[in-house]
Amino acid sequence: MTTPSRPHSQPLPKILLLVLLSATIPHLIPEAAAAEQDEQQPITLAGCPDKCGNISIPYPFGMKPGCFREGFQVTCNDSFNPHRAYVADSRVYQSTFEEYDRVKPEFSELWSRTLDTTAFELIDISIANGEARAYGAVSSVCSQNETDYISKNQHMKLGEKMSPFFLSTERNVLIGVGWRVQTRVYSHLWSPSVHGNSQKELILSCLSDLADPQLLAFATNGSCKGRGCCEAALPEALPITVLGLAFTMNNNNTLFKTNPCSYAMVVESSWYNFSTPDMYGYEVLPNRYPRGVPFVIDFSIPNGSCPAKGQPPPSDYACVSGNSSCANTTTGQGYVCKCWDHYEGNPYIVNGCQDINECELRDLYPCSADGVCKNKLGGYDCPCKPGMKGDGIKGTCTDKFPATARVILGGIGGVFIIAAISFLILLRKEKKKTRQFYEKNGGHTLEKAKFIKLFEKERLKPIFKSSNFIGKGGFGEVYKGILDNEPVAVKKPISGSVLENEQFANEVIIQSQVIHKNIVRLIGCCLEVEAPILVYEFLCSGSLDDILHGKNKVPLNLGVRLSIAAESADGLVYMHSKTNIKILHGDVKPANILLDEKFVPKISDFGISRLIARDKHHTGSIIGDMSYMDPVYLQTGRLTEKSDVYSFGVVILELISRKKATHSEGSSLVINFLEAYKKERKATHLFDKEIIATEDLEVLDSLTGIAVECLSLDVDQRPSMTDVFNRLFILNQSHKSQLVCEL
Ligand SMILES: *[C@@H]1O[C@H](CO)[C@@H](O)[C@H](O)[C@H]1NC(C)=O
Ligand SMILES: *[C@@H]1O[C@H](CO)[C@@H](O)[C@H](O)[C@H]1NC(C)=O
Ligand SMILES: *[C@@H]1O[C@H](CO)[C@@H](O)[C@H](O)[C@H]1NC(C)=O
Ligand SMILES: *[C@@H]1O[C@H](CO)[C@@H](O)[C@H](O)[C@H]1NC(C)=O
Ligand SMILES: *[C@@H]1O[C@H](CO)[C@@H](O)[C@H](O)[C@H]1NC(C)=O
Ligand SMILES: *[C@@H]1O[C@H](CO)[C@@H](O)[C@H](O)[C@H]1NC(C)=O
Ligand SMILES: *[C@@H]1O[C@H](CO)[C@@H](O)[C@H](O)[C@H]1NC(C)=O
Ligand SMILES: *[C@@H]1O[C@H](CO)[C@@H](O)[C@H](O)[C@H]1NC(C)=O
Ligand SMILES: *[C@@H]1O[C@H](CO)[C@@H](O)[C@H](O)[C@H]1NC(C)=O
Repeated sequence: MTTPSRPHSQPLPKILLLVLLSATIPHLIPEAAAAEQDEQQPITLAGCPDKCGNISIPYPFGMKPGCFREGFQVTCNDSFNPHRAYVADSRVYQSTFEEYDRVKPEFSELWSRTLDTTAFELIDISIANGEARAYGAVSSVCSQNETDYISKNQHMKLGEKMSPFFLSTERNVLIGVGWRVQTRVYSHLWSPSVHGNSQKELILSCLSDLADPQLLAFATNGSCKGRGCCEAALPEALPITVLGLAFTMNNNNTLFKTNPCSYAMVVESSWYNFSTPDMYGYEVLPNRYPRGVPFVIDFSIPNGSCPAKGQPPPSDYACVSGNSSCANTTTGQGYVCKCWDHYEGNPYIVNGCQDINECELRDLYPCSADGVCKNKLGGYDCPCKPGMKGDGIKGTCTDKFPATARVILGGIGGVFIIAAISFLILLRKEKKKTRQFYEKNGGHTLEKAKFIKLFEKERLKPIFKSSNFIGKGGFGEVYKGILDNEPVAVKKPISGSVLENEQFANEVIIQSQVIHKNIVRLIGCCLEVEAPILVYEFLCSGSLDDILHGKNKVPLNLGVRLSIAAESADGLVYMHSKTNIKILHGDVKPANILLDEKFVPKISDFGISRLIARDKHHTGSIIGDMSYMDPVYLQTGRLTEKSDVYSFGVVILELISRKKATHSEGSSLVINFLEAYKKERKATHLFDKEIIATEDLEVLDSLTGIAVECLSLDVDQRPSMTDVFNRLFILNQSHKSQLVCEL
């Protein structure tokens, strides 16, 4: 029999071995850039074409003689548009054989049935990566009928023994597609002379099993996990081989008619996306990809290795460019050339590797927007912009003020702002308070008063300092100062003093209307504080109490004393009768009779003072000095004009005796005086020696008489203030004196 016998009905499973690829494979090392070359930069030897169609052909690849390194020849077929490039030293064997071949599955027969051979077609070449892509085979086996099938296989041979090309194990995968297929890859030691009987070794396989129609449901698009599609990674190192694919067929299946074909391919990983319709129909994948499916080839300089350190390179050394280095492949033979980091170009040609301008390739070489990119040989700098620190390459440029400092500054700023806001709030609050006090203290009423000045508290503030302090009383503290070029005495009530607003305002208005030469004038007040501050005219000589009993006693002749008595009485008269409203002083005493530089007395501390004092709780000290207090008033609690008259009587006593009215059991000045007067109608021994002169005794007697009348415990016996004044006035006239303020 010249033809092999065709076996009948060989049932399941049948195994078919296909030789798909033959390859001589040194190893690879990824490499520097060449594909993205500067267009000015040559990629080939001088005078050599660098393109076939739109495919760049860099040296060591080349088309014309003398333009390529041995094994790297490319043929360009210009009958296509664009032209197509083929690896010259390669073969793709396309063969078809039928089931009966299985009986004598000898490679010799297999090869003998080769129908056609071509070189494999290049897709692109990357010098930088040391790889090329090409179209590879899709092998298929399709059932003819229940017993027979036909397989169409493409076998690719990459070069001879010292081929520069190797199937990339990392970038390719084995794919099987079909309803029931076991795809196997065999490697065979390639021997062109001996086609058959070569050792074969199973490298990898994958199984797609859909024998049971129900399993079809598990076939899913995009999934290549054994249901309609299977996938296997290529092993780490493939020996120099022929690669074979084997199919396991079961053609006694109801799916036979719709799913006649299975496919096997070595293809660039991630390229193929399984779709269930690929299982149906006849020769679907080969028809869809007539030029083949892409796979990746590593290339290297096959014969030789990098020179050892210090050794001169061999004469045919491939790495001729400066700025480049050499790397041995992992297979132990062959080497690749690559440009240094930050250089690009073709290390296989002289001056091929040129510095990369990284600043134009920000995607690959980061430099943040805050950085200033500066190219340099073998790298680049990306310092941060002025005023910033950090690393522009890492994108860590920050303002020179460290974040923490900024935070702190921000914090300080924040605190400052808060403080400012708080201050404003306080200020507002204060203003509001000021306004409230002003209103509470009868500001609106007082605004209408003609003779009263309303001072802002800010104007008074400077006055309240210890150097200005001149005294303290029941009312509060008294300071002297100057307002509107006028010396003033400012009375600051002890805080906590409370006044009824309208009452206070009215009192102030009344007082302000009391304008008399012998009454201390109320200039104004400040209502913007809780307890209103009163501003009076300032008198330089202090109080009558001071000059009579104080440390700096001054000589006081009778004339001065008479004058003081008379004028003080004049003031009290005015208060009692000459104003629209009767004003009772309530606390007449030497301390409340002030003297100006000419010793003109002025009554102070009435009205408001008493109001304020009364509102305070220390009744004893406030109501008035007990030594001057009308005993009747103390008994009845009813203050009358005659109470002031009584007190004035005590003042007269002090004027003539220069003794301080003290209030202690049995030794009161008043009692002593009155007792002495009762006994001898005279109290001469109680008179101040300074004024006892025989010619003045009459005057002194009259004066004593007035005092005694004033001190009468029978209120009705007491003269009126007017009466007192009139008598004092007459006495004073009769005893004129010239007085000068010595202060
Ligand atoms: C060449 O051109 C074809 C079609 O014109 C295109 O598909 C292919 O990607 C191009 N190849 C390169 C390397 O540019
Ligand atoms: C170019 O390709 C065509 C069609 O495949 C073929 O007939 C022709 O021989 C090829 N030419 C070369 C130079 O390989
Ligand atoms: C199967 O097909 C082949 C080729 O077409 C044919 O020779 C063979 O007789 C067929 N077998 C059956 C069982 O139909
Ligand atoms: C897979 O996608 C194709 C279209 O690409 C669709 O016709 C088919 O039904 C899908 N298969 C599955 C299982 O979803
Ligand atoms: C195919 O399977 C059916 C039943 O499943 C069986 O009857 C038939 O003999 C089988 N055919 C072959 C060729 O094995
Ligand atoms: C498969 O899918 C990936 C990602 O969606 C795509 O990049 C690739 O081109 C697809 N492959 C084919 C052959 O369409
Ligand atoms: C490979 O190296 C051998 C010696 O080691 C040499 O004889 C041969 O010519 C080289 N072949 C190529 C293609 O360089
Ligand atoms: C490459 O291999 C050769 C020979 O094995 C060795 O002498 C040389 O040092 C190696 N070079 C490098 C860069 O590994
Ligand atoms: C190395 O790179 C620099 C910068 O591109 C270039 O000027 C120089 O010529 C290169 N050296 C060689 C030997 O190629």
